[in-house]
Amino acid sequence: MNHPSKMHNNLFTTIILILFLFSKPSAAFGGGAITGGWKRIHNMTDPTVVKIGKFAIHEHNKRDHASLKFRKVVKGESQVVAGMNYNLTIRAAERGADKCYVALVWDKPWKKFRRLVSFKGPV
Ligand SMILES: *[C@@H]1O[C@H](CO)[C@@H](O)[C@H](O)[C@H]1NC(C)=O
Ligand SMILES: *[C@@H]1O[C@H](CO)[C@@H](O)[C@H](O)[C@H]1NC(C)=O
Repeated sequence: MNHPSKMHNNLFTTIILILFLFSKPSAAFGGGAITGGWKRIHNMTDPTVVKIGKFAIHEHNKRDHASLKFRKVVKGESQVVAGMNYNLTIRAAERGADKCYVALVWDKPWKKFRRLVSFKGPV
C-alpha cells in the first residue's frame, strides 16, 4: 500500500542517490567521497597553516634531496575531504635565493596522517 506522497519521497531519494553515485568529487586527490570546494585561507600565520607549509618543504627536501629553507606561506586554500587538503604557495630559499613553490598536502590530524601529494616549483 503506497501513499502517493511516500512514493514521491522514495522516488526523490532514489534520484538523489543516483546523482550522488554519478557525481565525481572534484579534485578528490585525497580520496573520500564527500568533498567540499576550495576555500581561501586568510591567515598565513595560523599555526596549522605554517605547520603544513613547513611539512611540505621538509618532505620535498627528503624526497628530492633538496635543501629548501621554509620562509613563509604566501597564500593558500583548503578543501574538506576525508580530512583536509591544503594547497599552499610557499616561499622558500635555496642557497639564499627566495622562490615560490606550490604544495598540496593531505592532512588527517585525528589519524596523525599527513602526506605531501604534490610539490611544484619554483613558480
Ligand atoms: C593569525 O593567527 C595567529 C595565530 O593564531 C594570530 O596570532 C593572529 O592574530 C591571526 N591574524 C589575524 C589577522 O587574524
Ligand atoms: C593551487 O594553487 C595554485 C596557485 O594559486 C594554482 O595554480 C593551482 O591550480 C591550485 N591547485 C589546485 C589543485 O587547486
